Amino acid sequence: MQICRTVAEVRATLAGYREAGETVGLVTTMGALHEGHLTLMRNAARDHDRVVATIFVNPTQFGQKADLAHYPSDDGRDIDLLSGEKVDMVFMPEVSVIYPEGDETIVETTRMANMLHGLVRPGHFRGVATVVARLFNIVGPDAAYFGEKDYQQLQVIKRMVQDLHMPLKIHGVPTVREADGLAMSSRNVRLSAEDRAAAVCLSKALSAADKLARTGATVMALDGEVRGIINSEPRATLRAIDIVAAETLAPLEGRIAQPTAIMVSADFGGVLLIDQAVVGPA
Ligand code: PAF
Repeated sequence: MQICRTVAEVRATLAGYREAGETVGLVTTMGALHEGHLTLMRNAARDHDRVVATIFVNPTQFGQKADLAHYPSDDGRDIDLLSGEKVDMVFMPEVSVIYPEGDETIVETTRMANMLHGLVRPGHFRGVATVVARLFNIVGPDAAYFGEKDYQQLQVIKRMVQDLHMPLKIHGVPTVREADGLAMSSRNVRLSAEDRAAAVCLSKALSAADKLARTGATVMALDGEVRGIINSEPRATLRAIDIVAAETLAPLEGRIAQPTAIMVSADFGGVLLIDQAVVGPA
């Protein structure tokens, strides 16, 4: 597995792949890799001749400096994990490579970035769209793979690719879960044992809502079900429940009659976790 630090190195390697007629799948990450990320790599490897991974803790998507400072990072461990997968190249740039001195250009999905999670994390999705656009331009992949757990992020990226006519396919990959249902996340390592056990209420609430949606329930009933299960866990502080149209993230009312995304976030001892499910008719 080749490690690249500069844009020139990435482009030279990619030129070699392209000359050999090979296709390229990309997985962008901020490191702190877990099974969820490795699943994305395996999906990319299944579909493409070459897999490129990026590890870059993107400062522009963190609102508070403290959050950025606390972001877990262990490059050695991440490289070992990637070496065990069919990953051909990993791009690990310095901040100044992605954001050169004097840079001015941002990318923002104006509506989708400023709703739901974007309301509580102003600027977050602008930071995500900007870095992902830059990484796409540097690597030039045929396709890129993102987890469905970060559901709003996935929809923001799909919209950006469509609006900017970027020549690649975006694949959403179902959330990878621990045996008890907790969605895998780099943040899980920060949970105490008690909060780790409590956090399973998120996936339980989503499973219950999924069952209810199959009975033709209303948005309000789904909201009540999810809220009730999370609020009955004393260690959870519910932050948000959003029940929206799966593709556009538009608010919904009445009976569930279309693919519907339920996005939840809750705090467990100072660690904010998110989870999601798409329910209702396909
Ligand atoms: O999901 C993530 O890890 C990040 O938001 C991403 C897509 C790598 C952009 O920094």
